Amino acid sequence: MCGIIGYIGKKKDSLDVLIKGLKNLEYRGYDSAGIALKDSKIEIIKAEGKIKNLENKLKNVKSTNLGIGHTRWATHGGATEINAHPHKVGKVTIVHNGIIENYIELKKKLQKDGYSFKSETDTEIACAIIDKLYKKEKNKIKVLKKANGILKGSYAFGIIFDDDDKLYAMRKDSPLIIGIGKEENYIASDAPAILEFTNKYMLLEKNEYAVLDKDKVEIYNEKLQKIVKKVHTYAGTKETAMKNGYEHFMIKEINDEPEVFENLIKQFDIKDIETLKKSMPSFKKYNAIDIIGCGSAYHTGLVGKSIIEKLAKIPVNVELASEYRYKDNFSNKKTLTIFISQSGETADTLAALRKVKEKGFDTLGIINTEASSIAREADKVLYIKAGAEISVATTKAYSAQVLMLILIAIVLGYNEKTVSKQVANNILKDIKMLSNNIKQTIKQEKECKILAKDIYKAKDVFFIGRQIDYSLCMEGSLKLKEISYIHSEAYAAGELKHGTISLIEENTPVIAVVSDETIEEKTISNIKEVKARGANVTLITTKKILNKYKNADFYDQSISIAEDNILIPIHIVAILQLLAYHVAKQKGLDIDKPRNLAKSVTVE
Ligand code: AGP
Repeated sequence: MCGIIGYIGKKKDSLDVLIKGLKNLEYRGYDSAGIALKDSKIEIIKAEGKIKNLENKLKNVKSTNLGIGHTRWATHGGATEINAHPHKVGKVTIVHNGIIENYIELKKKLQKDGYSFKSETDTEIACAIIDKLYKKEKNKIKVLKKANGILKGSYAFGIIFDDDDKLYAMRKDSPLIIGIGKEENYIASDAPAILEFTNKYMLLEKNEYAVLDKDKVEIYNEKLQKIVKKVHTYAGTKETAMKNGYEHFMIKEINDEPEVFENLIKQFDIKDIETLKKSMPSFKKYNAIDIIGCGSAYHTGLVGKSIIEKLAKIPVNVELASEYRYKDNFSNKKTLTIFISQSGETADTLAALRKVKEKGFDTLGIINTEASSIAREADKVLYIKAGAEISVATTKAYSAQVLMLILIAIVLGYNEKTVSKQVANNILKDIKMLSNNIKQTIKQEKECKILAKDIYKAKDVFFIGRQIDYSLCMEGSLKLKEISYIHSEAYAAGELKHGTISLIEENTPVIAVVSDETIEEKTISNIKEVKARGANVTLITTKKILNKYKNADFYDQSISIAEDNILIPIHIVAILQLLAYHVAKQKGLDIDKPRNLAKSVTVE
């Protein structure tokens, strides 16, 4: 949710590292930010809003050898300077990512002990707990362990003490890495944040504590035994986390899709179905699949359900992680539960994974962020290799997740003998062409731009489709909502006449997705129903279907894709991604950092 950064080094570089790191972490939360610099004393500077507001306050600030920084996505207390991190109580200064669930009861106890608080945050309470413990116990690692025993919730902390020139960190559930440099070391919420300084990092696991000095890092496990950690090398390059000349990360990441699909399929041998099957995990023992995710990851699951059920005739149950974790589930040992997550850190999806693991059922993660929590805790993981995705609105990761599910569906279908070798190999032929063919679809950006001019002033927009098209509409609608702030709804086309059609009036924009020929006519009859009530209909379909309705009067404009095979959803969603992008662009909005959102939702 929030972004944490910390620096300790021989060179007085903290200011440069903290600000550059916070800018790289801004997609995690951007309603306020702050830094604390430690020299002979601790100087804290905070500001409301984006990092640039903080930067404007740093003109006369001297850099130091030690500092911590934070960019915030408010959970407790408004987006104000007072509530911004770092927070300092007594001898302790802290930055925090996560939520302290028992902060209210702790606050009451601390107030009885004479503590008073400036902010409305849960973090200041955690800071006071550490300060109170530090009054009695001078071994700082023991203090952090005790605090970990008192605090409830999910958290990662960066901590500095008044009387010490070291950087401390601890983690429970929220992500935190330790960056390893030459005569300097770092803490950060993720590796790309410090990539311009080092690509060497260690992963801090749950209930582990770190003490960083200029030239050494000590890690302690939950029994406070000193442990040696593996040093990982981050695969991505700084460039993958840059805009490469595009105006926004979102449009850059849509244009990354050809290369992303190349990278994804490269990790498998897709010469033919037999080689693919060998290069994939075995799915032989499963006769049912559960797919779990949040937001767009959930929508990916819905598309995967249609394709797996179509090819393999295996029942697929798709669930929202935030619902799944609190309800009875009827899976069993023959059910494979697939967890989809770009960040690999989404709290609800992580908790759902732990629930299934507790039951001893098999879990598979379809993940983008390497070595993330869900990737590490799932029994098996398939990486989608989309590279760093910075824009809050997911695009390339969504599409790569759909491609991964299509590969899994082919293998399942082949295992179940519902897909012949010939059919499987033909689909693999299409997949080998995908990276090229998607470029043609992305070139239709100009048509999306024109269409966006008709839509950007709308108050409401409706997306309608049936079956897999309905699932695609759900993603199209979410994309539009999250970056353009226009209210939109995705609807199963056959459902409209049961109520919602009352909202359709003269010129109401309706985006109708028709790519599945098996139900094309049914969907078109529903389109005619909204057209008859004055809707302005945009038809998004395949050239093959459009050719049948060249001069039909049930749509006002159309965008059609050339692809005509099982990969159609990946092309259709690229159009929906481009449309949402250009609507938000017409409105001049902050496309990569939409209000109220964050890239990785690490709180429940
Ligand atoms: C999508 O554009 C949003 N950023 C959001 O719905 C996202 O898909 C959801 O929070 C899940 O994130 P994850 O894939 O990182 O788990």
